[in-house]
Amino acid sequence: MFSKIKARLLFMTILVCLLSTLLIYCFLLNHEIQIENARDTWLSADTSGTIWVESDRQQEEVHVSHPSPLHWMHCLYCGINLIVGVLGICGAFWMYRWKKGSHSETHPETTLSENGLDQIVRSLYLAVEMKDSYTAGHTERVAQYALAIYDQMDESQKRMLPRDDLRYAGLLHDIGKVAIPDLILQKEGKLTPEEYEIVKLHPTTGADMVEQIESLAHISRGIRYHHERWDGRGYPHQLKGEQIPLMGRILAVADTFDAMISTRSYRQAVSAQTAYEEVLRCSHTQFDPQIVEYFKKAYEKGALQVKKPDFE
Ligand SMILES: [Fe+2]
Repeated sequence: MFSKIKARLLFMTILVCLLSTLLIYCFLLNHEIQIENARDTWLSADTSGTIWVESDRQQEEVHVSHPSPLHWMHCLYCGINLIVGVLGICGAFWMYRWKKGSHSETHPETTLSENGLDQIVRSLYLAVEMKDSYTAGHTERVAQYALAIYDQMDESQKRMLPRDDLRYAGLLHDIGKVAIPDLILQKEGKLTPEEYEIVKLHPTTGADMVEQIESLAHISRGIRYHHERWDGRGYPHQLKGEQIPLMGRILAVADTFDAMISTRSYRQAVSAQTAYEEVLRCSHTQFDPQIVEYFKKAYEKGALQVKKPDFE
């Protein structure tokens, strides 16, 4: 990877090359001036470069090879330095473009304004909530709980996951439910195994949908894996432990917590305290124990701001 240290070394190399070129150029210029000055005093010179200079005391021979080997050496050194300097600048420019390109692979530049992206995300998740009145407000709460968990995380983990990515993934985690028939989504009572299999398609459907939006494609992994379990018994791919992307592990806790404190077509809500204890109980099995610790911290600090106690 192109680190800051490498960038500094490259910069210093270019600087040294350019400075030494400048110095050599000044030296050569001075050398030429000296020769010109000497010519003013020369009384005679032959074609081989042997110049006769007459002084008060004696006539001496000053041998000036023009151009001398030293002169050629300096020219060569000067040329090499110039080439290295120019190559260095080209290299720095190329690395900058390369770095920009590789960065946009994982975090594509937003082609939409932030406000425009917010509006698109909002209209998408409202489409799900309009389809299923039981989930009204669910997506916003899941995003809020996920961010409360995120805020308790170590800085090293935060660097792996931009906060806004988690927020968008929280808001869109159930977008795939738009493809579930109303009869199944709003069914009162228990689903049949076949119906449940259809419901289980929503993470994949949602992730595939979001991947179509260039500015959001990189958050699709959070959507695709928000129903995976730490013990590998989740869906759609039965990923286990840290195979599950961090975004998916956080959303799993936030989603389950809110689902428990919300009334659904097939069951009543439980209290926030009961849901909290259930999340702690499912640490190491359903949830990443470290994420549960962050959740616990957030809950105890009141950072979750549980707004909708359907139970009460
Ligand atoms: Fe879901």
